[in-house]
Amino acid sequence: MTVAADIAVFETLESEVRLYCRTFPAVFSRARGAELHAEDGRVFIDFFCGAGTLNYGHNNEHIGRRLTAYLADSGLAHGLDLHTVAKREFLTRLRDVVLAPRGLDYKVQFCGPTGTDAVEAALKVARKATGRRGVIAFCGAYHGMSRGSLAVTGNRRARAAGGVGMADVMFVPYEDGPAGRFDSIGYLERMLADPSSGMDVPAAVIVEPLQMEGGLYPASVPWLRRLRELTERHGVLLICDEIQSGCGRTGPFFCFEHAGVVPDIVTLSKALSGYGLPLSVTLLRRDLDVWAPGEHTGTFRGNQLAFVTATAALELWERADFQAGLVTAGARLHRFAAWVRETQPGVTVRQRGLAMGIDLGAAGGPARAGRVQRQCFENGLIVERCGREDEVLKVIPPLTIDPVTLERGLAVLLDALGRPGQAAAGVTARAASPAAVRVAGTR
Ligand SMILES: Cc1ncc(COP(=O)(O)O)c(C=O)c1O
Repeated sequence: MTVAADIAVFETLESEVRLYCRTFPAVFSRARGAELHAEDGRVFIDFFCGAGTLNYGHNNEHIGRRLTAYLADSGLAHGLDLHTVAKREFLTRLRDVVLAPRGLDYKVQFCGPTGTDAVEAALKVARKATGRRGVIAFCGAYHGMSRGSLAVTGNRRARAAGGVGMADVMFVPYEDGPAGRFDSIGYLERMLADPSSGMDVPAAVIVEPLQMEGGLYPASVPWLRRLRELTERHGVLLICDEIQSGCGRTGPFFCFEHAGVVPDIVTLSKALSGYGLPLSVTLLRRDLDVWAPGEHTGTFRGNQLAFVTATAALELWERADFQAGLVTAGARLHRFAAWVRETQPGVTVRQRGLAMGIDLGAAGGPARAGRVQRQCFENGLIVERCGREDEVLKVIPPLTIDPVTLERGLAVLLDALGRPGQAAAGVTARAASPAAVRVAGTR
């Protein structure tokens, strides 16, 4: 006999704003690697990873050992921006493993705990350093839910909920999107070059090198290079938001590395701590570090436990087995993407590294994407949706997933999509959950 999950306290006490628990109705109790366990005994393969936070899987053993040793030794947990051993080790490791090998000469600003704090700091410092107010953002962009970040986020419903206006932000279509391709750079070039275009020279352009929430659209190498070249020529700062696309999600540590460009400012968070602990940083070109002491602060900007886990996570980047696993898993997704393209009429698949978007926009739309997602869940796979109308299945397994578990998850996904020659599972009608009213494209 199945015992109904006890969710009374969530339903009576927790705000209506909750979202994921409606899509994935279970009460989770334990997790390890790519697997999540519910208290009723169900086990799920996790192709969602806390919205791109758990790149090294749940409770990564190497990282966890460091954390428990640090706690057992009474290491500081909270430290504002005090000098601490944990922070020194993290900064040193970040310099040695990430920045120096890539020739990146950034200063590191620790922000409040979450991604949106890094974006707020990036926008603020760009405005301060240039003395200009305008920022260019891209349609489909997602940069966070606090006011400044929301102002550069495209989603209308999210913006309306935040009461955010258009002041000082101009949106331009991204290179690709549901409405097709657009020559964003040509358009920007024309607007910036024409002294009577009505567009003031902005402080910055903020861009996700891979738009995740907008529908998993990767910027092409030439597009990102042209954007870098254009911004440089007009003295406009280029902010790359790597909060979801960074920390190895697309193969290299930063997604912008595919294009060989160097942004002026970079935001990182989500998977940076490697263990799901809040940590967010803004990387600044050295001469852009124009802050006066204490001009931008935050009580939780010194999350020592996250420094410890982030340091351990960066150690993985020096291990050949980690690098090899990343390449193997990325190659497997690449083959899977090619196969889905070939065998699923009307389905578009966009994939870079361990990020894959299966776009059902022209093959059943959001309703089918919802049905596929629900069938996956019923069969033990957690996969989230993204895109303007939630029409894209967002497949982001842990970078450390073992080949057998990856294969099992892909098999569930394929069954839900409908194996070729089979009646597509996604085409059979099933009632949508009325509770799952979501703000499309926002997480
Ligand atoms: C690209 C990007 N920027 C910013 C954010 C905001 O991060 P947080 O939710 O931690 O504030 C997100 C979150 O999904 C994101 O994907």
